[in-house]
Amino acid sequence: MSGRFDVPSLLAELTIEEKASLVSGAGFWWTRRIERLGIPAIMVSDGPHGLRKQDTSGDHVGLGGSAPATCFPTASALGSSWDVDLLRRVGVAVGEEARGQGVAVVLGPGINIKRSPLCGRNFEYLSEDPVLAGVLGAAMVEGIQSQGVGASLKHYAVNNQEADRLRVSADVDTRPLREIYLAGFELVVKEARPWTVMCSYNRVNGVYASQDPWLLTEVLRRQWGFDGLVVSDWGAVDDPAAAVAAGLDLEMPSTGGASAARVVDAVKAGELGEEALDTAISRLLRLLERTLPGTEGDHLYDEDDHHALARAAAADCAVLLKNEGPLLPLHPDEGPLAVIGELARTPRFQGAGSSKVNPTRVDDALAALRAGVGPGVVVDFAAGFGVDDPGSDTAALRAEAVEKARGAHTVVLFLGLPPSCESEGFDREHLDLPIDQVAVLEAVAAVNDRVVVVLANGSVVTVAGWEHHAGALLEGWLGGQAGGSALADLLLGAVNPSGRLAETVPLRLADTPAYLNFPGEDRHVRYGEGIHVGYRHYDAVDREVSYPFGHGLSYTMFEYSDLTATAIEASTPVAAQGWRGAPRITVEVTVTNTGRVEGKEVVQVYVCDPGSSVARPVRELKAFTKVALAPGASETVAFTLAERDLSYWSIRADGWVLEPGPFQVAIGASSRDLRLTATVEVAGPPPAFPLDGNSTLAEWLDHPLGHDVLMDLLRRSPGGDLTPLLEDPGRRRMLGSFPMPRLAAMLGPTLGDELGRALAATLDG
Ligand code: BGC
Repeated sequence: MSGRFDVPSLLAELTIEEKASLVSGAGFWWTRRIERLGIPAIMVSDGPHGLRKQDTSGDHVGLGGSAPATCFPTASALGSSWDVDLLRRVGVAVGEEARGQGVAVVLGPGINIKRSPLCGRNFEYLSEDPVLAGVLGAAMVEGIQSQGVGASLKHYAVNNQEADRLRVSADVDTRPLREIYLAGFELVVKEARPWTVMCSYNRVNGVYASQDPWLLTEVLRRQWGFDGLVVSDWGAVDDPAAAVAAGLDLEMPSTGGASAARVVDAVKAGELGEEALDTAISRLLRLLERTLPGTEGDHLYDEDDHHALARAAAADCAVLLKNEGPLLPLHPDEGPLAVIGELARTPRFQGAGSSKVNPTRVDDALAALRAGVGPGVVVDFAAGFGVDDPGSDTAALRAEAVEKARGAHTVVLFLGLPPSCESEGFDREHLDLPIDQVAVLEAVAAVNDRVVVVLANGSVVTVAGWEHHAGALLEGWLGGQAGGSALADLLLGAVNPSGRLAETVPLRLADTPAYLNFPGEDRHVRYGEGIHVGYRHYDAVDREVSYPFGHGLSYTMFEYSDLTATAIEASTPVAAQGWRGAPRITVEVTVTNTGRVEGKEVVQVYVCDPGSSVARPVRELKAFTKVALAPGASETVAFTLAERDLSYWSIRADGWVLEPGPFQVAIGASSRDLRLTATVEVAGPPPAFPLDGNSTLAEWLDHPLGHDVLMDLLRRSPGGDLTPLLEDPGRRRMLGSFPMPRLAAMLGPTLGDELGRALAATLDG
């Protein structure tokens, strides 16, 4: 370690009491300072879609005030952009604001998998897919950290619900844990190297994440190479001494000295080694070294620029789900518009809880539309319904809306979830829009057949019951402080929609993968759906959905051509390979904008291993890119799929396993709009699983070395050659599942013993 602190001498000089005090915070947002040794304190603040810096009050549930900051679209919106560059730019802007406010670490991004659309915090998470969440999360981390400010990747790990979040044990099998729930974290840690990771509140398979040595040390540090600091979620630590021992470096917020006292006692009792404490402190010092330069001096940023970025971001995130007619973009010159819905005037643009930003300003769609249509065009407005307002006169509001709709050429109806429906701290109870809003839609659609619905919600809402009343449907998510003007840009065609769903819109709640296992009971939630999360589930059970993962329309059209998918010989030297292993397939495809306006297409690469020996998803997203194309323009995009992209996590091998054979590579405009597919033969030796004392006949026969040893023994058996027994495929299959000790026992003492000895010798060798 270079620089500012002489860590060994500081460790030598710090008393046990001082050391113990350093591993928990000072107040809500600060680390502790040790004046006499020149160890300064740094401030951390929420994120991640904007800064929530609290100067005078302290709370982590969004109750108290905070300094004004740009409120960017929330993560569910940003995830729908599928735009790596955008996430990086938003990260840079958030980092600039943090630096400007003297904040050393931004507590985000959150990349937990959207296991169920009911999770109250889904608006803070990017996707139901780990590659999408990981790639976008990594870009955001890089952006934030490019400003000399640390990011805090959260919530590690398997924090996919709010119900009982501080105690619940997420009981999840190893394969889904590795392939779905840890995969995004692994990607961000390895690609973007966040300076901090925040552990989650919940338990994972019975152990608190804050004190789980396997999660915090074995996987995060030893296997993935994380070199930063692990901070607890606010109040996540159950036993501070166990947490330090497991690899937690900083407990937040302060517990008023109680944690330090417990740590001191544990060290004195020999329960906690002082080296563990020293390790945590050296990681804290490293974080100080990394972040202190960024917090020194004045850093200004341009509020207008950031607002403009927030507007461009929100426009990049909105997903045009449907556009019959096409009703969009609007043509205000064709007749008056009626804008209906309180949400057009009073936007809901972010979620509640610790991520709540105090925006520098807020654009509403009504004003932006009025400004955008130009002089002389009538844009009438009716509230239609109240948002979380028990005092509103529902009938009168609806009647007014119907009158305005009757006189309009086109109706733009803003619907969405009221704040009381989704928040950090509790889960949703259903996926429906409020009944009074649907009633307004029905009433309006009865008098005007040109209805465009614009949605504001953090997590998906079901649309199946009412969408037939709307010719067009634009999902705006929680678009941040400039969401209103961005929606006007999209509705009026100043910007072409280019968002794609980062999560499936199901037909009904009962169709969702975790339906029978969410949110669990008696402090446990069983992840019974395994690896079949999100679209992996709908595809596996061939279930219809309202809108599939990856879906989103544009005002133009794109054609795909000239797909080539070529196997690469596994000859890349290991030293030249990235963490995803040797490159195995290159993919190229040409995309052409065949319409009349400029637009952006998201090219999605899905992979399938049809011949796998284990259950694998029908298809999995492994790569994507977003390309901007002028009308008539083409671009050839290229992707490289590496070993990891083709592998599954094997319990037997306790690692990633690639099974050679044919792989299907599909290029999609969504997970269910696959335009071109190719099959690629991936060569290589079959995976060699280690044999153990309980391996079956089939496993011995599949093992390159074990096969020969076994056949040789059977051939030389005292009673005569036994190998013909295995020639009959039916018999071979029937006997195949017998563990070898059982078969040996059945062969009688002489042969059984010899076989047993020989097999044991092979295993030992
Ligand atoms: C949240 C974290 C947040 C922290 C600090 C917790 O309640 O789960 O996401 O960063 O508070 O506000």
